Amino acid sequence: MKTLIKNIKELIQVDDNSRLLVKGKDMANLNTIKDAYLIIKDEIIEDYGSMANLKEDWSIDCDDSIELDATGRMVFPSFCDSHTHLVYAGSREIEYSDKIRGLSYEEIAKRGGGILNSAKLLHNTSEDILYEQSLERIHEIILQGTGAVEIKSGYGLSVSDEIKMLRVIKRLKETTPVIIKSTFLGAHAVPQEFKHNPDEYVDLIINEMIPQVAAEELADFIDVFCDHGFFDVIQTDRILMAGVKHGMKPKIHANELAKSGGIQVGVKYDALSVDHIEYTEEEEINALLNSATMPTILPGAAFFLNMPYAPARKMMEAGLPIAIASDFNPGSSPSGNMKLMMSFACVNYKMLPEEAIHATTINTAYAMGVSDIVGSISKGKIANLFITKEIPTYNFMPYAYGSDLINTIILKGKIL
Ligand code: NIG
Ligand code: FE
Repeated sequence: MKTLIKNIKELIQVDDNSRLLVKGKDMANLNTIKDAYLIIKDEIIEDYGSMANLKEDWSIDCDDSIELDATGRMVFPSFCDSHTHLVYAGSREIEYSDKIRGLSYEEIAKRGGGILNSAKLLHNTSEDILYEQSLERIHEIILQGTGAVEIKSGYGLSVSDEIKMLRVIKRLKETTPVIIKSTFLGAHAVPQEFKHNPDEYVDLIINEMIPQVAAEELADFIDVFCDHGFFDVIQTDRILMAGVKHGMKPKIHANELAKSGGIQVGVKYDALSVDHIEYTEEEEINALLNSATMPTILPGAAFFLNMPYAPARKMMEAGLPIAIASDFNPGSSPSGNMKLMMSFACVNYKMLPEEAIHATTINTAYAMGVSDIVGSISKGKIANLFITKEIPTYNFMPYAYGSDLINTIILKGKIL
């Protein structure tokens, strides 16, 4: 089966070299082809180029073919969202008004709200209902242009509820067209019953949760909320060491609420990414420069919690790559809309549209270990892409921040 998309006004984020990430000043150079075609064979991008070079016999080697005419419209690689908590029960808009009244994220957490509130809700929700609620969110982000997503556990906080969450993620992997990677985040918060002895909870994570999660092969990655009031560097170090021993690559929450040392401990364990990173200064930048770890900014959470913004420009000037993910979760970023995250990246972090496009596609693909198969328009990669509505320029995507500009979605070569 072959699909031809022809007369594409502009084919965006073309990479003949299939780079695994884009960093520093290269982030501002976006490769595109105007008046282009793209050919998909089964689920793979087979060819692309300018219309002048489209061969008349492009479909000669297959029985079945279709053509889509994209006149006036552009083709983008699907967004990759490398950081979400989209498996959760219910919602927490009640805390929204608490926040407006002036309570901080940490204060809400201390009162037993926040993550612990979601844990209670999740405990009382069956696996099937949790799956249904999460499936709806997956459908929502597919329509918003996401083609690959990482999902974390972390609202279970007990052996059985963490496993319940990870089984739901596994089921989503098997039943939806998006590429999904799963992360074990038992160290998301300390449950009430361990409040006076958090190290005992860390022991439970290391001695019971990690071995069981690994035995059932439920997680690709391991995460820790390494921050003020949650898990400290020593606890994070112990948990990451145990996760790595069980074959899980680290990806961690770091420096959201304070200079927690989280970035350095992430780098020490060769984390795929360190995420949030609002509190990033010279020493954190230097640690990242000597690493293969992707600094990942979550603009939705910083916007929603009114946090200081990570120094994106300074990081790119130092030569670092940046990824932008949604953090889709009920407490700090109740949206998985990656196009909106791109707009936040531009307005609040002063990233150019070109930089924001790299940050939400190839660099997030890297941050979830899939940049060899998605994240750019490259021959041989999986055909995860979308055709826009008619737009004047690609800048219009982050500029028109409230508009749905996606017309046709193609995942794994299939038109949805
Ligand atoms: O990434 N920072 C920690 N975890 C989530 C928030 C989870 C929640 O509040 O439910 C985050 O922002
Ligand atoms: Fe998060």
